[in-house]
Amino acid sequence: MITTEDEADHPPAFLGCFRDVFVDSHLVLPVIVPEDSDAQANITAGCSDKDKCDDSPCQNRGRCVSQGWRSYVCDCHRPHEGSNCEEDYITARFGNKDLESYASFSLDDDPGDPVTISMFIRTRQSSGLLLILANSTSQYLRMWLEEGWVKVQVNNFETLAGRSEVSDGHFHLVTLKLEAMEAILFQSAQNQGSMHIRPIQAHPGDQVFVGGLPDSRATASFGGYFKGCVQDLRINSKRLQFYPITTLVESYSLEQLINVAQGCSSDNACAVNPCLNGGVCYSMWDDFICNCPPNTAGHRCEEVKWCELSPCPATAVCQPHSQGFECLSNVTFRVESSILHYGSNGKIKRSLSSVYLSFRTRQSAATLLHAQKDSDYLTVSLLDSHLVMELQTGADKDAPKLTVQSQGPVSDGEWHTVELSMENQTLQTSRWIMAENGGKDELSMSKTAAGDLEFLREGADIFLGGLTLDSEVKLSGCLGLVEIGGLLLPFHHDTELNLPRPQEEQFARINSNAAPQYGCWGASVCAPNPCENEGVCEDQFDLHHCTCPSEWTGPLCQESTDTCISSPCIYGNCTNLPQGFKCVCELGFTGEQCEVEVDMCENSNCGNGATCLKGFENYACLCPQNLTGQYCELPQLPVSTCMGTRRNYSCFNGGNCSEAENTCHCLPGFTGQW
Ligand SMILES: *[C@@H]1O[C@H](CO)[C@@H](O)[C@H](O)[C@H]1NC(C)=O
Ligand SMILES: *[C@@H]1O[C@H](CO)[C@@H](O)[C@H](O)[C@H]1NC(C)=O
Ligand SMILES: *[C@@H]1O[C@H](CO)[C@@H](O)[C@H](O)[C@H]1NC(C)=O
Ligand SMILES: *[C@@H]1O[C@H](CO)[C@@H](O)[C@H](O)[C@H]1NC(C)=O
Ligand SMILES: *[C@@H]1O[C@H](CO)[C@@H](O)[C@H](O)[C@H]1NC(C)=O
Ligand SMILES: *[C@@H]1O[C@H](CO)[C@@H](O)[C@H](O)[C@H]1NC(C)=O
Ligand SMILES: *[C@@H]1O[C@H](CO)[C@@H](O)[C@H](O)[C@H]1NC(C)=O
Ligand SMILES: *[C@@H]1O[C@H](CO)[C@@H](O)[C@H](O)[C@H]1NC(C)=O
Repeated sequence: MITTEDEADHPPAFLGCFRDVFVDSHLVLPVIVPEDSDAQANITAGCSDKDKCDDSPCQNRGRCVSQGWRSYVCDCHRPHEGSNCEEDYITARFGNKDLESYASFSLDDDPGDPVTISMFIRTRQSSGLLLILANSTSQYLRMWLEEGWVKVQVNNFETLAGRSEVSDGHFHLVTLKLEAMEAILFQSAQNQGSMHIRPIQAHPGDQVFVGGLPDSRATASFGGYFKGCVQDLRINSKRLQFYPITTLVESYSLEQLINVAQGCSSDNACAVNPCLNGGVCYSMWDDFICNCPPNTAGHRCEEVKWCELSPCPATAVCQPHSQGFECLSNVTFRVESSILHYGSNGKIKRSLSSVYLSFRTRQSAATLLHAQKDSDYLTVSLLDSHLVMELQTGADKDAPKLTVQSQGPVSDGEWHTVELSMENQTLQTSRWIMAENGGKDELSMSKTAAGDLEFLREGADIFLGGLTLDSEVKLSGCLGLVEIGGLLLPFHHDTELNLPRPQEEQFARINSNAAPQYGCWGASVCAPNPCENEGVCEDQFDLHHCTCPSEWTGPLCQESTDTCISSPCIYGNCTNLPQGFKCVCELGFTGEQCEVEVDMCENSNCGNGATCLKGFENYACLCPQNLTGQYCELPQLPVSTCMGTRRNYSCFNGGNCSEAENTCHCLPGFTGQW
């Protein structure tokens, strides 16, 4: 039973059935009355007790709840509304055709505590302002999109971010619950996280901005104006309607609605066909899809997979290039080769401020590249095995030409890459830098400044392998990638390609009769075999190396390794060693070849005053009168004169006379008759 305020004065009408109602034996109900009679109103025959919810009166999956007898209410899912959930809240389109749009509402009551803000949003933009709650002094609640995620900031301080992306072009229900000390963010009922906050105080008169702020610079700090749709925005149970629905619901009052359209129409992204190369555009909500023809790719079919069309001859490798392709190859120059001649196709717009070159040679002097227009020229050459660039640009012909030279020699038969570029490309003239082998080596820098290579954009002659078309090729070696300003100098003539190169800016070979030798081939240095004595020849690109049998040596294996064959050891025996020979000398000889006789007295031990007497393999000491011993180290002991029985005699070295026996008594250490 629904009760109303004035129930006491006007009790509600009876709701139910009567049967067999007699007044003074007259049946009064039910009776049949003519249709236009006003004797009965809102009375029908019969008495059905069927549940009203059995008819499923609630639309859009709304839940039917029986209310007493013969009545029901519908519990609608958002964003549906109305007694039978038959109505939808009207979607508001922000940023249609990229207009700056926003709406503002005024809080005309205190929303109370806690405050729950919820809305459906749909967007493909990853950034933009969603909603701001502000009083006259501060924006105490901010919600915006950043990198496709919802971000929330309360009281200028605490920030909370959603955990899943919302900018996918689908509707998402975003709910922010602000309790006394905590803010919780939900996306489609999923908790995205919470944070501690200081309580906020929303008051009547505070303003709610949706999609942007009147000040576009202030809006820009939240990623700009929102582009997308908002539906069924609520603060607690109270709605914030951009366009009112017919069902009466409690709403805050709308104050401004700037460039916000009704509905959720899409920008027609296909209106200016964004698909390239014959791609077919299909419109999606705020987006488009290109159906690309075969061999094209990319969001807008902007990439043609040129190389899949096999445009290059077998001697080249196809490489995709901006808006086209290039056929890359190496080329070998020999005396009999022709110089390659190039020109621009006259459509080069870019600034030409660099040259890239890869080469391989053992030559110490040759011209690799020369380009000329009137008095302006560029030459890259080898001089004294160093790479040298010379550049002369500008009207002032007397200005010193710019030169820059490699740090070290480059004529070693290995591949070298070198990049020459202006130090500062934004300046009219600047110094030029030479970077070798990808900048791993030390850089070289010119002393003077020069301009860029603008003169090569049109009408210049560019030569590879020599100075002019008529000059003889002096280069002996290979060239790989050669680029000026990032544009290739192709070794193949355009007529050799299966498809024309589609790119706008091009250098192309002019002399079609030249027949370059593709690939990189060294001169024939091992045939015939230059190595003697069955040495094995190894081709090291324009240079051979002989690997000799052990008994031969020298660059061509022409020298014998038996160094003893000439008998170099004069007084000794000879042995062969890897690095030469060694002499084992006979005793008494020394020196490299045993040629020096050893002086045995040189380091003799003969004492002071003694004379050394050289002998074979040893020496002897000749002692002065008062010294004795092997090295004359002992004093001469006294000599006694004895009168023997038969004749007089002497005892030496301190020995005593033993006159009776006609002999001597010796001191210890001495022996003999005397
Ligand atoms: C019949 O019911 C309708 C709807 O409840 C009401 O508007 C109308 O006043 C009723 N008629 C009379 C005569 O009471
Ligand atoms: C504005 O809101 C902030 C934060 O809730 C509050 O501190 C401030 O007092 C409010 N100012 C006014 C004028 O209501
Ligand atoms: C050119 O030679 C280098 C070195 O041998 C090699 O790596 C490269 O693939 C060659 N380029 C082409 C297009 O054959
Ligand atoms: C290039 O020159 C401009 C103008 O003088 C200068 O602003 C810039 O910093 C320079 N750039 C480099 C990389 O030196
Ligand atoms: C030199 O060689 C001979 C023959 O083998 C040997 O008899 C002699 O002792 C050697 N001399 C030396 C100094 O080694
Ligand atoms: C040996 O005689 C010399 C000269 O007559 C004398 O200078 C020396 O001192 C003497 N040596 C001894 C050990 O008597
Ligand atoms: C030995 O010497 C003494 C004294 O000098 C001498 O008189 C004596 O004749 C000598 N004896 C002989 C056999 O010579
Ligand atoms: C020699 O005679 C002296 C004196 O008589 C004595 O001291 C000494 O030991 C004797 N020497 C020998 C070797 O007999």
